[in-house]
Amino acid sequence: MSRSCLAVILAAGDSTRMKSSMSKVLHPVAGRPMIAHVMAAVASAGMTDAALVVGRDAEKVANAGAIDGISVRSFLQTERLGTGHAVLAAREAIADGFDDVLVAYGDVPLITAIPFAAARQKLAEGADVVVIGFHTDKPTGYGRLLVENGELVAIREEKDATDEERKVTWCNSGLMAINGRKALSLLEKIGNANAKGEYYLTDLVEIARAAGGKVVAVDAPEAELTGCNNRAELAYIEKLWQERRRHELMVSGVSMIAPETVFLSYDTQIGQDALIEPNVVFGPGVTIDGGAVIHAFSHIEGAHVSAGATVGPFARLRPGADLAAGSKVGNFCEVKNGKVGEGAKVNHLTYIGDAVIGAHANIGAGTITCNYDGVNKHETWIGANSFVGSNSALVAPVSIGDGAYIASGSVITEDVPADALAFGRARQEIKPERATVIRERALALKKSRSKT
Ligand code: UD1
Ligand code: CA
Repeated sequence: MSRSCLAVILAAGDSTRMKSSMSKVLHPVAGRPMIAHVMAAVASAGMTDAALVVGRDAEKVANAGAIDGISVRSFLQTERLGTGHAVLAAREAIADGFDDVLVAYGDVPLITAIPFAAARQKLAEGADVVVIGFHTDKPTGYGRLLVENGELVAIREEKDATDEERKVTWCNSGLMAINGRKALSLLEKIGNANAKGEYYLTDLVEIARAAGGKVVAVDAPEAELTGCNNRAELAYIEKLWQERRRHELMVSGVSMIAPETVFLSYDTQIGQDALIEPNVVFGPGVTIDGGAVIHAFSHIEGAHVSAGATVGPFARLRPGADLAAGSKVGNFCEVKNGKVGEGAKVNHLTYIGDAVIGAHANIGAGTITCNYDGVNKHETWIGANSFVGSNSALVAPVSIGDGAYIASGSVITEDVPADALAFGRARQEIKPERATVIRERALALKKSRSKT
């Protein structure tokens, strides 16, 4: 569709019920602000320009909405006089002239591009106003879509509705598409002679019809339209988001044993035939390639796990962790800004930070890369096919050559050449019978004390 499209996103609510020091649209769902989810939906419906109507935190909201380089203009609505008034706060943007104007709510983050795209299609076919509606068995509080002879003729707000009208279960989501060439003149006709004394955006239905225009409705699933007013609703929206994304991933070929215990971020990518065991948490920026296995209780963010690699149980991958094909990061290991080479093994109780591990290296239990000197971070290079004995401390910057061998318990402060053996600990000594001597001495001391 080559039609130009402005999205006006209403986010001027005062967020009172969130009981928060920030605007509710800044609260995250799946690791990013609600407003960014809404922006992603209108962007994939073909929006070319965005106008945010905000009441507080204008700059923060605009920044949070500016995903993928979308340019966002924000407009302050200083008084909340209703949804019609709110859209007109973006008058300047609307006046720039667009084919389509979409109205979205910043606090309805589960919305997808589909209903907006359907609404734009109706505009392209000649409608002046397209209402996004939904069917529900709990219509209380919503504007009702009133139909005569199969045509949408009005939206009646709950407070203005008759008992008969309140029985209608086809409701207004509040989201809408308006013919951009007529939008300003239609919006300017909205008055406030109603039960709430507000400027109702919903009056556009009757206004457009009175002007001889065509008004239609398209439907969206009720769950997509769930709004957020308080933290309990925020948690419910998170739950719905997680369920939807888990389902998409499973349908695309990802296995999850207990999907309800797996938490994804907005951008988590997981390939076909990957297995995600129970109780795994994905922070932002994770890509898991096909066939990888993430064992239970792992926490992964900003990381890439290649095909056939295995992680956990109880592993933590932090930003910059990059596991090559067939590598293994096992229980109680942490990797931060570290590359684990093909087939390399970091199996137990290890910290790898700012390090590069070559292919097929074996990192023993309890190995620590000491990457921080209290001021700066330093790097560790561990060569291919090397073997780092258990409980070794590799004090960065340091490099271990290919095929080198580090004796267990070593503190390695100097570079180790390829194929060398390095000891960084005191050599073991044996003192025959010395234990007996020490024990007898101790027993004698105990005896002398009990006499006094
Ligand atoms: C609105 C619709 C109603 C619909 C419902 C869906 C109108 C008159 N009514 O009702 O038909 O069923 O949404 O949830 O449009 N906002 C502003 N500035 C304002 C007023 C609102 O930015 O002056 C924003 C709010 O932050 C919110 C959205 O617009 O994101 C909707 O406002 P809200 O007061 O919740 O609308 P409702 O009265 O519930
Ligand atoms: Ca509402």
